[in-house]
Amino acid sequence: MKIYRSVLFAPGDDQKKAGKAFAAGADAVVLDLEDAVAPARKDEAREMVKEILAGVSPQVPSFVRVNAVSSSYILKDLQAVVELPVEGIMLPKAESGEDVRRVDWLLGLLEQEKNLALGRLVIIPFIESARGIERAIEIAGACGRVRCLAFGGNDYTMDIGTTYSPEGSEQFYARCRLVTASRIAGIAPPLDTVNPNFKDITALREEARRVKQLGFQGKLVIHPAQVAPVNEVFTPPPEEIEWAKNVVEAFAQAQARGAGVIQIEGRMVELPVVRRAQQLLALAEAVANKSLKANNFK
Ligand code: COA
Ligand code: MG
Repeated sequence: MKIYRSVLFAPGDDQKKAGKAFAAGADAVVLDLEDAVAPARKDEAREMVKEILAGVSPQVPSFVRVNAVSSSYILKDLQAVVELPVEGIMLPKAESGEDVRRVDWLLGLLEQEKNLALGRLVIIPFIESARGIERAIEIAGACGRVRCLAFGGNDYTMDIGTTYSPEGSEQFYARCRLVTASRIAGIAPPLDTVNPNFKDITALREEARRVKQLGFQGKLVIHPAQVAPVNEVFTPPPEEIEWAKNVVEAFAQAQARGAGVIQIEGRMVELPVVRRAQQLLALAEAVANKSLKANNFK
C-alpha cells in the first residue's frame, strides 16, 4: 500500500529547495515544471530536474509536475521525464479523460522508443477547474496509469469566480466529487490542494482534519513547515488503532459464535464498521513500515 499523507512541492529550477524537500519527511516530493517555473526558465528547469534527481535519496518517492496538455511544453516535458527515476507525473489542469489519455499515449510511445516497461510512469491528474470537477469520474478512470487525483483549490476558486477561504465552503462540492469519483474508478483516495498560507499551521491542521473527514488520503504542501502537521493529521492515532484492533478481534469471535452484529461499549458493530477498522489497521501498518524503512536508511 502506497501512502501519501504529505506531498511536498519544490520548484524544478531551484536546486537548493529541491534538495531540502527530499529531506523534509514528506511521503513524496513533486518537482514542479509548471506554475512555479517562469516561462523563460522552462528549458533550464527540465535539465535541473534531471540533475536534482540524480543526486537525491531514491527512498523518497518523487513525481514531476509537467505543464498542461494544452501547453506548448508538454512534449518536451514528457521527453525529459520518461527516463527519470520518478514514480510518475502530475498532470495539471486535467479537464477530461481525453487529456489524460493523450499523455498516456505519448508516454507509451516514449517508453517504447527508450525500451522501457510500458506503463512504468503513473499519472496523478490535477483537477483545478469546474470542467475538470464535473468530469472527475472520466478523468479518474481514463487509463490504467491514474494512481489518484489531486485537487488544485487555488485555480478552482479562481475558475468559479470566488476566493479561497480558510473554512473552504466554496471548495466543499469539488472535494466531495473527487472522493466519489476516485471510488467509482477504484483508485486510491485523492490528495487535497495546497494551503498557500504556510505560516498558519493551526489553519492548516484544521483544513487537513476537515478533508481527511471528507475522504482524502493526504495533502499537497508547499513548505517544509507544513509536512509534519499534515503527516500527523493523516496518521491514525493510537486510540483509533486500539479501537480497530478491538473491533476486528471482537467481531471475529462473534462470527465464530454465529453472530453478525455485536455491540462494543454501546456502539453497534457490523460488517461496514469492521471493514473500516481493517482499513485503519492497513493504513497504520503502512505508516509503521514507512518509518521503519526511513530509520533503517538513516
Ligand atoms: N521545499 C524545500 N525547502 C523549502 C521549500 C520547499 N517547498 N520552501 C521553503 N523552503 C526552505 C527555504 O529554502 C528556506 O531554507 P533556508 O532556511 O535554508 O534558507 C526555508 O525553507 C524557509 O523558507 P521561507 O523563508 O519560510 O520561505 P521562502 O521565502 O524561501 O519560500 C515559497 C516560500 C512559497 C516561495 C516556497 O515555500 C516555495 O517555493 N514553495 C513551493 C512552491 C511551488 O512549488 N509551487 C507549485 C505548486 S503550488
Ligand atoms: Mg494550478
